[in-house]
Amino acid sequence: MRSYLTTPIYYVNGPPHLGHAFTSVAADILARQRGRLGIATLLSTGCDEHGQKNDQAAQAADLTAQSYLDLRSAEFRALFDRLAVLYDVFVRTSSTNHLACVQEAATRLNDAGLLFRKAYEGHYCAGCEQFKRQSDIDVDGHCREHPNLIASLIREENYFLAIEPFREAILQRILLDPSFVQPQSARAQLLALLDEPLEDLCISRPASRVPLGVRLPFDSNYVAYVWFDALINYLGNVKWPHRDFKLWWPEVEHVIGKDILKTHGIYWPAILLALGEALPKTLSVHSHWTGEGGLKMSKSLGNVVDPNKVIDTLGPDALRYFFARQMRLEADSAISTGLIRQTYVAELANKLGNLHSRLLKFASSKFGGRVPQRGILTPADKEIRAAILLAARYWASPMKLEDIPVHTTAQLDAVQHLNRYLTEQAPWSLATATAPAERCRTITYVAMDCLRLIFEALWPVIPSSAERGLMSLTGQLPATMMSHWLPCLDALREGTLLGEASILFPKPDP
Ligand code: MSP
Repeated sequence: MRSYLTTPIYYVNGPPHLGHAFTSVAADILARQRGRLGIATLLSTGCDEHGQKNDQAAQAADLTAQSYLDLRSAEFRALFDRLAVLYDVFVRTSSTNHLACVQEAATRLNDAGLLFRKAYEGHYCAGCEQFKRQSDIDVDGHCREHPNLIASLIREENYFLAIEPFREAILQRILLDPSFVQPQSARAQLLALLDEPLEDLCISRPASRVPLGVRLPFDSNYVAYVWFDALINYLGNVKWPHRDFKLWWPEVEHVIGKDILKTHGIYWPAILLALGEALPKTLSVHSHWTGEGGLKMSKSLGNVVDPNKVIDTLGPDALRYFFARQMRLEADSAISTGLIRQTYVAELANKLGNLHSRLLKFASSKFGGRVPQRGILTPADKEIRAAILLAARYWASPMKLEDIPVHTTAQLDAVQHLNRYLTEQAPWSLATATAPAERCRTITYVAMDCLRLIFEALWPVIPSSAERGLMSLTGQLPATMMSHWLPCLDALREGTLLGEASILFPKPDP
């Protein structure tokens, strides 16, 4: 089994923001989760370095385009590294490989007679890097996504690809394969978009107006339209047009925000069909994080939460966990530094972290710093073990984007359940000289083994904390954890030397 997961490639006209961090973390969670089940995974992310707005940003920064792009894309890469996004490919559209790939795609379409020139007049939103229909522009000339930018009227001659001929094939795929577009609300939106007339896709821009782009091999007065250019990365990452790309294609899942549903749900399938290539397996669409006041966070609006600052104060897993727990596919959800901090303290520090340090300290003082021996199980032990195993099992079959918050919440419930078990069984009250030592040992073992399973299950979400937690309980990471993971009980070996009870989730200064 194979799974090629992609994130959008992000515009570099500003520093990376929380939305970019989110999509890459979400795709990373899926890649980690699938990868350790033995599925071969490939994760791509990267930067979209062409187009008008990147060019304008370079000029505003008073840098040459290339040094600006180098600087910014390094920031994106550094953020994803800090967030432990295990990407296999970090694509930059200014790379020569990508360039060659875009030129090849444009040539093939041109040779097939699918491109034609015509004059076009329309309102161009530099924020979206798209021509907008009159109905998408308000009376003051702004598009819905970028209310602080004027979509200016542009008239120019360009190359076009007709989309209409591909409508039926796209429609059939969506209708026949209900899992092609997820969630169902995105599928419904796409079906609605396919109900409207499909305008020809303008695939070029005059190089005189947009110098930052890939020159069209058959007409050097033009560069490829930034969206055409960017979408091709999904093929280039797996070595298209070399036949090796079939190793991964079409087992590809595009993880995207709802803002780019049309480009991925209509234009991209049309381009692929025009190239004679298969359509992607899945389009997984998420909603947006909103800033205070419910406004979409965007560079243009200037209401972003800086992911690097969150990592500085709370660590990468605080952000990854918040994303996983609070993400929604159907509706937007609010995010702020305060909310991330609150969730981190209430759930990671006070629940999971507390449970871990309580147990480890207890075992260290009562059982000589070793995993105690398990005795006969009572119904209460069996019940908690079954509940923890059940919650972990959700993580043992390939997950969809929408499963992430559900299964993460199930782990939080598991932690609370385990906390209750410990409070009720109170091993500390049995640790006196006269108390039945075996019962005390058994409760401690059961709780520690359950906690191990919780860390294993949560590893795709909070990899570095889960690894530290596991190391403290088992002394080494289970060999099967990264490749052929199977949730099971009793994997904690009696007598194992426990690590230090270091605090996994330190509380931030108030
Ligand atoms: N360059 C294009 C994508 C080309 S892909 C072939 C682009 N770039 S972008 O920088 O604007 O990034 C858009 C993506 O960033 C969204 O689709 C989403 O994945 C992510 N997000 C941007 N803002 C976001 C939120 N406020 N919330 C969640 N995700 C957000 O479009």
